[in-house]
Amino acid sequence: MSDQTRKSKADNIILDDKEHNLLLDHNYDGIEEFDYPLPAWWVWTFVGGIVFAVFYIYFYNFAGAPSLRDEFKQEMAAIEAVREEQRKLTGNFDLEDFKSWQKGENSMQMAAAVYEENCLSCHEEGGKGDIGPNLTDEYWLNLKEVSPGTIYAFIRVGNEDNGMPAWQDMLSKEELYAAVQYVLSVKGKKLPGKEPQGEKLSQL
Ligand code: HEC
Repeated sequence: MSDQTRKSKADNIILDDKEHNLLLDHNYDGIEEFDYPLPAWWVWTFVGGIVFAVFYIYFYNFAGAPSLRDEFKQEMAAIEAVREEQRKLTGNFDLEDFKSWQKGENSMQMAAAVYEENCLSCHEEGGKGDIGPNLTDEYWLNLKEVSPGTIYAFIRVGNEDNGMPAWQDMLSKEELYAAVQYVLSVKGKKLPGKEPQGEKLSQL
């Protein structure tokens, strides 16, 4: 007897062989159900997931793979090494070297660019001050004496407790020169802006 002619229990729908074989035995108030196999891609993804999980759990829990904390430490150590290198490069201020950099054609342009990109957000247009102090007055919070070297040294390490970043980690030696150059170029302009802070020092 061919299954072709067999009907589902509930209705007059004619099922072919394949459908008939897929029809499950139960019937909920006339609602019947086919038992279609799951698509192969789904099954293999599922199996793959389990296989992956076995290796993953083994690798990270038993085979001594680095934990997230270890990986974090390794990456931080690598970053610290790069910074250390950078610090060595920017460590010494050589006035003659700075002066010869100053004479370069682009020094003023570079000064403006470095300032705009890194300093403007806190020290404002022309250095008139906002979050950071007014750089155009004669008053200084962090210097005891005004010179390219002392300005350089301060910008390099900043004063992070008070909100001035340490630029040694972010700027190259030339960029630090450019930042110093900018500060020197606005110094004494006394732009109206943030009120003077710190000690009045004799300027260069
Ligand atoms: C996130 C804000 C911020 C940025 C960005 C910033 N500064 Fe500052 N800067 C400050 C603050 C705040 C101070 C004051 C620190 C203190 O109170 O000791 C300061 C102080 C200074 C001083 C010393 C002023 C003084 O009176 O002692 C100089 C010079 C200076 N900054 C230059 C720069 C330069 C150049 C850049 C860009 C490379 C820069 N700053 C970027 C916030 C900033």
